[in-house]
Amino acid sequence: MRVNGAQYRTVWLENGVVKMIDQPKLPHAFSIASLRTCEETAQAIRVMVVRGAGAIGAAAGFAMAQAALAAQTKSREEFGRSVEQAAALVRKTRPTAQNLFYAVERVLGATNGLEPEKAARAAVVEAQAIADEDASACQKIGEHGEALLEKKTRMLTHCNAGWLAFVDWGSALSPVYAAQRSGKAPFVWVDETRPRCQGAALTSWELGQEGVRHAIIADNAAGFFFSRGEVDIAIVGADRIAANGDVANKIGTYEKALLAREHGVPFYVAAPLSTIDFGCPDGGAIPIEERGEDEVLYASGLLDSGTQGRVRLAPKGASARNPAFDVTPAKLIAGIITPYGVVKPSRLRDAVPSRRQALSGPARTR
Ligand code: MRU
Repeated sequence: MRVNGAQYRTVWLENGVVKMIDQPKLPHAFSIASLRTCEETAQAIRVMVVRGAGAIGAAAGFAMAQAALAAQTKSREEFGRSVEQAAALVRKTRPTAQNLFYAVERVLGATNGLEPEKAARAAVVEAQAIADEDASACQKIGEHGEALLEKKTRMLTHCNAGWLAFVDWGSALSPVYAAQRSGKAPFVWVDETRPRCQGAALTSWELGQEGVRHAIIADNAAGFFFSRGEVDIAIVGADRIAANGDVANKIGTYEKALLAREHGVPFYVAAPLSTIDFGCPDGGAIPIEERGEDEVLYASGLLDSGTQGRVRLAPKGASARNPAFDVTPAKLIAGIITPYGVVKPSRLRDAVPSRRQALSGPARTR
């Protein structure tokens, strides 16, 4: 990703300090947050300084590495207790994104059976590998997904599944960036994505940095553009994919999938394998985060005074419900764009490396 001409990742580890693009400040200010301890990094995940499945996963891995580094001079027993406590803390930050749990288990596993000092080094190496794999998986998603985009395709996306939601490249937006580079000049309809407006604030900003043509639409305007034949394809990201191909993604995704079905528009999901939870039989078993009601009762942004703040939308005393994700059933999904090709949701296991030999070549739907 390039921000104002400079190369960045969304989250990285530098001398034991986790650095991340401070996402709540975007698009009005670009700054880097520095988190010195596992506790600080966990808190940054909780309050969404970093958000998006892949970026959360990388941050969780780095948080675990920080915990291991902090405990490396302890006895073997104390070291074990410290990293288990850190894992419990990180697991509690956000419940839906599978990548978080994937990263915590991987880093824990890397420390298993090693002396504390060696284990800490192994934790850092593993956390870095998770971040690097996330970036390269997303790049491959772009290569496969690009084949689904013709010249000047008008694609609809929901929330932010671009590079800000991963370490680099993104999932749903990676095919767009590949298409842009190959001269296809794609156009993106960007759902604003209330209540936190990741579409209006983050996706629009990212696409602007990459020079991609796009328009933000109110969440309730999508049906209008579908009905007028102005949407050629929909591609969204995923926070967790169940074994049967049901997909949890940002609230509002399900109704976009229904609109796509009604209007004969193909609806795709893009995700690395670290988002798939084969232990979860179907979408009903995916834990759905419910967030505070203030996100619905207020809107946040840049005030006329030039400072960032929030304004109240709802009458005093009003209450709200705020589920952060919904589940789109597999039957509404044309294909899942993975780093190994495009698979039917019912054939999800075909995307797993041991079974993927037959999947070489771009964008084949099986
Ligand atoms: O609550 P967030 O911002 O962490 O939600 C994640 C998302 O941005 C979307 O659901 C996205 O499409 C999937 S994450 C790649």
